[in-house]
Amino acid sequence: MTGGFRFRLTTRGRPLDVEDWRRRAARRVPPMVWAYIENGADDERTLRENRDAYRDWYLNQRVLTRTAQVDLSTTVAGTRLDLPVAVAPVGLAGAAHWHGDLGLARAAERNGTRIVLSSASTYSIEEVAEGTREQHWFQLYPWRDRALMASLVDRARDSGFTALFVTVDVPVYGNRLRERRTGMGLPPTLTPRSVLEAALRPRWLYAYLRHRRTTLRNLVPDGERGSAVESVEIQAENLTADIGWDDLEWLRSRWEGPLFVKGVLHPDDAERVVDLGADGVVVSNHGGRQLNSVPPTLRALPAVVERVGHRAEVLVDGGIRSGADVAVALALGARACLVGRPAVYGLAAGGSRGAAEVLGLLREELVRTLTMMGVAASADLTPEHLTPAPRRAA
Ligand code: FNR
Repeated sequence: MTGGFRFRLTTRGRPLDVEDWRRRAARRVPPMVWAYIENGADDERTLRENRDAYRDWYLNQRVLTRTAQVDLSTTVAGTRLDLPVAVAPVGLAGAAHWHGDLGLARAAERNGTRIVLSSASTYSIEEVAEGTREQHWFQLYPWRDRALMASLVDRARDSGFTALFVTVDVPVYGNRLRERRTGMGLPPTLTPRSVLEAALRPRWLYAYLRHRRTTLRNLVPDGERGSAVESVEIQAENLTADIGWDDLEWLRSRWEGPLFVKGVLHPDDAERVVDLGADGVVVSNHGGRQLNSVPPTLRALPAVVERVGHRAEVLVDGGIRSGADVAVALALGARACLVGRPAVYGLAAGGSRGAAEVLGLLREELVRTLTMMGVAASADLTPEHLTPAPRRAA
């Protein structure tokens, strides 16, 4: 057709990058929930530096490379992924949007990738298995109660989860000040202000009351009144600093499939984890939510890759907000990345579809980036594709 109107009428623009999704998400959930999603520990130095570390690198542009096709596939834990980005475990995802962890899992599979389902999920292991087509991965904290751990591991295996991720950087909860200030503690403290703030998000409030997806359903099955707090209490009581290498050994003996250890920063720890039989490690500082002032993950990554990369799969998370960030992480030796908050921004702003769009955006950005770098496959990225940027003044 020629002539006519050549524009689209819409009430607002589409989010074009992860930051747009972040801003949209911030408007959708009450400040208490937003603080929980966003905050880091103490003065949030690590949270900030996880992001800043990506500015230590320039991408090498190469021209006239005839790169018309870019292959993003990789294999993690024996699963072929179409995108070298998976969804990190995120506890209490149902607080962001009632689609919760199930929505995130569906978003992952729509993009040919997987979720690491948090043990603190708001849909149970079985609900996620039934509601998805693919086999996903399960995350577990080493808890005080071994019988409880064993039952979760067995349930994950029986439901078809194919890899276990053991998160080892939470011997105690990090000191997350923003969420504590808004009353996200145990028990949560409601003030007239926080109630009013929730009332000002009627769409969120209605869905919250209707679906009650704030209970940790692996620990307490129903969503009745009080069960959310009860389930979080069970988790808190089970958290212990009295955990050691024998706990990991024990978990290794209970799980036959691929086992990853998440929350490793030191190459000596990475080596010991792999010696104990782990198939991979996730270089992670829990998105800056645990020990503050540890190195940003991108800085910790190369030493871990150098130590264990030849005999284990090394993943990384923390601060990845664009396809270019993914390219840098892969170039420094990660086999794939996990994203936590970006997926939650999509979820909070648009449910499962929103989370899928965020992953799709990362894919588009990664393809565009690699095309202009002249790299035909993300698996081919090496440190040669980067140039160190001059150190910034602190
Ligand atoms: C997390 N993370 C996390 N990790 C884990 O192993 N089990 C969990 O239950 C949770 N819960 C959780 C909740 C929320 C709201 C966030 C933001 C994070 C950490 C997560 O898996 C991942 O390591 C970080 O989110 C990565 O950093 P980015 O991508 O959020 O910057």
